[in-house]
Amino acid sequence: MDASNIPTQAGPDDAIVWRDGRFFLLDQRYLPERVEFLELKTAAATARAIHAMVVRGAPAIGITAAYGVVLAGVAAYRRSTGGWQSAIQADLDELRQSRPTAVNLFWALSRMEALIGRLSQERDPSDALLQEAMLIHREDVAANRQMGEAGAALIASTTAVITHCNAGALATGGYGTALGVIRAAYAKGMIREVFADETRPWLQGARLTAWELLQDGIPVTLLADGAAASRMAQGGVDWVIVGSDRIAANGDVANKIGTYGLAVAAKHHGIKVMVAAPTSTIDMSLPSGREIPIEVRDADELLCYGGRRVAAQGAGVWNPVFDITPAELVDAIVTERGVVRSPDGKKMENLMAS
Ligand code: MRU
Repeated sequence: MDASNIPTQAGPDDAIVWRDGRFFLLDQRYLPERVEFLELKTAAATARAIHAMVVRGAPAIGITAAYGVVLAGVAAYRRSTGGWQSAIQADLDELRQSRPTAVNLFWALSRMEALIGRLSQERDPSDALLQEAMLIHREDVAANRQMGEAGAALIASTTAVITHCNAGALATGGYGTALGVIRAAYAKGMIREVFADETRPWLQGARLTAWELLQDGIPVTLLADGAAASRMAQGGVDWVIVGSDRIAANGDVANKIGTYGLAVAAKHHGIKVMVAAPTSTIDMSLPSGREIPIEVRDADELLCYGGRRVAAQGAGVWNPVFDITPAELVDAIVTERGVVRSPDGKKMENLMAS
């Protein structure tokens, strides 16, 4: 294997890399301890990487799956005698099953499938598939930049903010959704300090959000998830700013477990809640958050800590990794197409029609 083009250095904006026909992911399981890339050679390996959280965050999962389809197309064209379009289907199914909640996965796969339907059975699809995956990637970064500006404009005076999980460059094609807003607002002098929930059990806040913000020179203070309400009570925090994995047609928001509790506490303290997400995260086919499939992950994520069993033998586990924040607790949904204040079904419909 030619080691010369394996990325060795990376910032959070270069976590998904297609280079000279090879596909690499910055392995987020090891951050911030080590910056290590994993090369993915097949769509099946890509699906496993998504499930194992090598890459995570809704838009990043979608982009990764799109590149996974490129790998699938290359392989299907090479091996198939009966037409690559049917040979690719098993790989598409495997990618579709990698994680259930982030709708960007299904959105990106549908977009790649639509292209597959337009391509010729006889011709090598590799180039066309790669161009589409790269376009999805580029569009996501551009959307994040637009959301950054639009979200920052909502912050009326310099304040501290609280964020949850990681909705940064690592969770997207680059720049980030919630962290995109935070980056833009910080650059304008509108954010004094960022409080990041550690985000149990995967510690996306402590490991990833803190790493990203510090690389940008943005001060970050970690909170145990349970400390957020107490920090709100002390004052000085005007906004909770988060991303989303799926937003239903009525404006209900699925995001990392703990977001709902944060929004309830924010309401109590008169703090506003901003959800930054591209329109690829909006699922108008689901009337409300009740219909959003919530991923339940392995019990060991709670029973163990740092690879060591810590929970009492015999304890049961409930480990849903996302929750639903009702639209009535959300002050603004910020997308690349515009801002929806106090979201409801009608406003979401208008946004998506724009
Ligand atoms: O389980 P994860 O790490 O994939 O969950 C990610 C989140 O919940 C993020 O907050 C969300 O995807 C928004 S990412 C821009």
